[in-house]
Amino acid sequence: MKLETLKAMSAEEQYGLFKREERLFHFVKAGQLGRTDLLELGQRADRIRALGADEAGLRQLNSLLPHKRVMLYFNQPSSRTFFSFMNACHILGMRVCENRDPSLTSEKKGESFADTICTFASYTDMIIMRNSDNDAALKAVAALQDHSHTVPVVNAGSGTSEHPTQALLDIYTLMREFKELGGIDGKKILMAGDLARGRTVRSLSYLLAEFKDVELYFAAVPAFQMKDDIREFLTGRGISFQDVDDMSEALPEMDAVYMTRVQDEHDTSKGASAAVASSAFHFETAYLDRMKPGAVVLHPLPRREEIPPEVDADPRAGYWRQEENGMWARAALIAAIFNAEIE
Ligand code: NCD
Repeated sequence: MKLETLKAMSAEEQYGLFKREERLFHFVKAGQLGRTDLLELGQRADRIRALGADEAGLRQLNSLLPHKRVMLYFNQPSSRTFFSFMNACHILGMRVCENRDPSLTSEKKGESFADTICTFASYTDMIIMRNSDNDAALKAVAALQDHSHTVPVVNAGSGTSEHPTQALLDIYTLMREFKELGGIDGKKILMAGDLARGRTVRSLSYLLAEFKDVELYFAAVPAFQMKDDIREFLTGRGISFQDVDDMSEALPEMDAVYMTRVQDEHDTSKGASAAVASSAFHFETAYLDRMKPGAVVLHPLPRREEIPPEVDADPRAGYWRQEENGMWARAALIAAIFNAEIE
């Protein structure tokens, strides 16, 4: 299947193609998951986490997918996504192989991306991939389709476009944080930093649209503001959003603040991001005094100077909990793709 054919399809047509027997198979775009899926995956993650708390439960989890082998194929740096996926696979008893350096695959010898993907599919049962190309996961699905490989692809971050599993763990985190506060419905969520190139906030916007009366606030300098495609999507879904110039002024109203790092690896000219003064959209320690008691500060991490380490001591600093949630949410996703029954 040609990439152009796949890209010309509507989102709904693509989502249909990413399913097998009405179940999630390829996970390429956050929008594939609806509210029911998110609630179900959250419950599944909680069950896996509860079982993972003791040896007997871990042994039970270990016996779920020992017959499955997975390829982790990452061509961009990663600490959390790579290792949380690897450990999620280990928890489920899977065998993992990996490539994190494209100079060590035959791509270095001139092999096409499509042939490389098909090679991994010849040996393993799932490909979890991070790639600098916006369309990499789509290209992988197209290549596998052409070669009749029935191996699911999980997008662990593609260029500046999407990071669907991060969005899944972010929703899981918000569900847990707001458990006693009526859930995600009706919450005000501010996203700050580099919203133009931050793939996490883009994917998260798709998933937040699944919740009722959510209000989104975009706090960024013009050069880093949220792109029009996301704005058009939110408008189409009737989700309220607005731009914020003064972050500290907006904070007392917010239920969640989602900070992001400047994505300068995508600069087209050297030092382009550094020339943009964006420190007005950093989280200052004093901001904690302006926030509601039940609010939460999130960040996909890694952070630089946008959240000072002193903030970590406040119980509303949720990013370390968020990081840990990622492993359980990813285990839930993999178990769901393979239809592994968890008691
Ligand atoms: C994010 C990413 O890779 O997009 N990191 C992550 O997966 N937790 C965010 C970032 O790198 O800034």
